Amino acid sequence: MKQRLEELFWQKFGQKPQYAVRAPGRVNLLGEHVDYNDGLVLPAAIDRATLVVFSPAQGDESRLYAADFAEEAAFTLAGLPAKTQTDASPLPDWALYPAGVMWALHAEGLNIPALHAVFASDVPRGSGLSSSASVEMAFVSAWQTLAGWNLPPMRRALLGQKAENEYVGVNCGIMDQFASACGVQDHLLLLDCRSLDWQEVALPPDLAIVVADTTVRRKLTSGEYNLRRAACEQAVQILSAPLLGIRALRDVTPQAFNQHAHLLPPEVEKRARHVVEEIDRTAKAVESLRQGDLPAFGEAMNACHASLRDLYEVSCPELDVMTRIAQSLPGCYGARLTGAGFGGCTVNLVKREQAQAFAQALAAGYQSETGLSPEIYTCQTSNGAGQA
Ligand code: GLA
Repeated sequence: MKQRLEELFWQKFGQKPQYAVRAPGRVNLLGEHVDYNDGLVLPAAIDRATLVVFSPAQGDESRLYAADFAEEAAFTLAGLPAKTQTDASPLPDWALYPAGVMWALHAEGLNIPALHAVFASDVPRGSGLSSSASVEMAFVSAWQTLAGWNLPPMRRALLGQKAENEYVGVNCGIMDQFASACGVQDHLLLLDCRSLDWQEVALPPDLAIVVADTTVRRKLTSGEYNLRRAACEQAVQILSAPLLGIRALRDVTPQAFNQHAHLLPPEVEKRARHVVEEIDRTAKAVESLRQGDLPAFGEAMNACHASLRDLYEVSCPELDVMTRIAQSLPGCYGARLTGAGFGGCTVNLVKREQAQAFAQALAAGYQSETGLSPEIYTCQTSNGAGQA
């Protein structure tokens, strides 16, 4: 991919790009839809990434070419608040991510030189593997490389999140940008989304993380996503009458929740119950993982899927079929949808020596039930964003 982008850069800008950076997508093993509730998440950066080749530009105009869309966009700092290009036309959707990053870095008072860049990604869009965060973190790295400031990875992640929340308009949590910035090869990352403390959790070598793409792409996600987040906030507001001092659903134990759940409107109760139980489930499952109890960890993944399907209502028929078949196959400890939901991928924890047979059987089963050809592969965990 790098060579192809370098050639495109030549065609567009008549020279060789000076730098290249990459930022990975992520898969999340457990702790879904809890990052914006101050909960615990367990993602890993994966071997699918956004790659940017770039050079500093003269003047104040940045020009980007998105190889995946065969489209160019040009913008300056001055046009960013209006989300317009240099010629006053609106920024295309894909350009909101790099432009949002530039906007967020500028808001932070950082020096951000104009650049010429060509980029592409092999993180499938809308698949639950965080293609947007990988684009954001790749451009934060690109500007860091050019400008010479050096922010710790968590600060870079927070600026990527700010771009997505305040510029793109998706009220996401910190998990995806964190995983893309801080990934460590052969490890899962356990992040406490309140304190932002995190630890590496070694992945047992005899385990494979198998990603299964339903090929169904989510629609209207940002609207549904923001609604889920609003329901969680409403639950905190109502529960803070009996439970003085709570700041987020993180502060509500399952016992306290059961005691006061009747105060919540039925839909809000379902959403909040998922979050409260998922935070508890993740904390316990991480202990199981550390003790090598993979069946217990896998059970928690299965329970997570059921909860996302029935309580949080972010699954879809294809994700349910993929998960149900996976859970019935030999060697599979656990299977569930990963990421925001509404389509995209499932994550499966499988005994390494059975991973290939598992992938084949899962693909055949899914195809015969849905008529769709899935993409199923064992993914490798990777390091976070940096030089390519
Ligand atoms: C998306 C968001 C994350 C997180 C997940 C659900 O990927 O970007 O912040 O909320 O959904 O766990």
